[in-house]
Amino acid sequence: MKNLFSVKDKIILFSGATGVLGSALAGHLASQGAVLIVLGRNPKKVKALVADIEKEGGRAFPLMADVTDEAALLKGRGILLEEFGRIDVLINAAGGNMKGAVITPEQSILDADTAQLRQVMELNYLGTFLPVKVFLPLFLKTNTGSIINISSMAASRPMTRVMGYSSAKAAIDNLTKWLSVEFCQKHSKSLRVNAVAPGFFLTEQNRSLLTQEDGSLTDRGHKIIAHTPMGAFGDPADLFGATQWLCSEASSFVTGTIIPVDGGFSAYSGV
Ligand SMILES: NC(=O)c1ccc[n+]([C@@H]2O[C@H](COP(=O)([O-])OP(=O)(O)OC[C@H]3O[C@@H](n4cnc5c(N)ncnc54)[C@H](O)[C@@H]3O)[C@@H](O)[C@H]2O)c1
Repeated sequence: MKNLFSVKDKIILFSGATGVLGSALAGHLASQGAVLIVLGRNPKKVKALVADIEKEGGRAFPLMADVTDEAALLKGRGILLEEFGRIDVLINAAGGNMKGAVITPEQSILDADTAQLRQVMELNYLGTFLPVKVFLPLFLKTNTGSIINISSMAASRPMTRVMGYSSAKAAIDNLTKWLSVEFCQKHSKSLRVNAVAPGFFLTEQNRSLLTQEDGSLTDRGHKIIAHTPMGAFGDPADLFGATQWLCSEASSFVTGTIIPVDGGFSAYSGV
């Protein structure tokens, strides 16, 4: 019987794959038979992830580029064209925040660091748009494929403090919907664009914001758990199912959506 959710032999280009969520997800997809192209800036980290995947019997290929550097991405496209001739999935997970784009309770927007705000917009928004632009021709080799942008709960429900990152992720949600329509109208109805919006996952980026040194919750951590019907932070493995579904034929009529993986956070008004 055909497995609708199969990703076997799919060629998946994955930015941010060496990160906390990315490496878990890349390992999972490789374990399901996909070929992982690990796109990153740091050769040591990229090589280490490729080696880890291969050690587990998976297939992976390193590709060096900064996602905000169009020339480096174009060079990467040439390499992929020669090595694979096409891609089936692009996962845009490279992203992150910067201190100067956060407004602490003691600060106001008068304290925002404009240069760092620009960097946050550039990394999250342009760092998602540019890989889509540059690698589109590899999808057009088969006129089919799936693009998955990694958004955040901060996009639909802007969070106190987290100004720049929330705005940048909101722009990614908007871009996701825009591209889904554009590709159906101008390229192929089988070239789909969706986003996964993770809720709160306890990772290095936010550990000190959510937990104290002894592991107990901060005030902010308590507030988040109180607004999460499932009453817990997410684990990287919680992203596997939704992402695999979007990579696979099981989601063939799904485009332009933002899928929350958030333990119910986005559904809960707090009353
Ligand atoms: N951790 C969470 O709770 C959470 C929640 C919602 C959304 N997200 C999003 O999920 C994605 C992965 O998050 P994570 O927690 O694994 O973060 P992470 O910091 O561990 O990983 C980010 C990855 O992006 C890469 N990267 C950063 N800048 C880059 C650039 N210019 N070019 C190429 N690669 C670059 C890093 O090297 C790293 O591999 C991010 O987009 C993040 O915003 C995370």
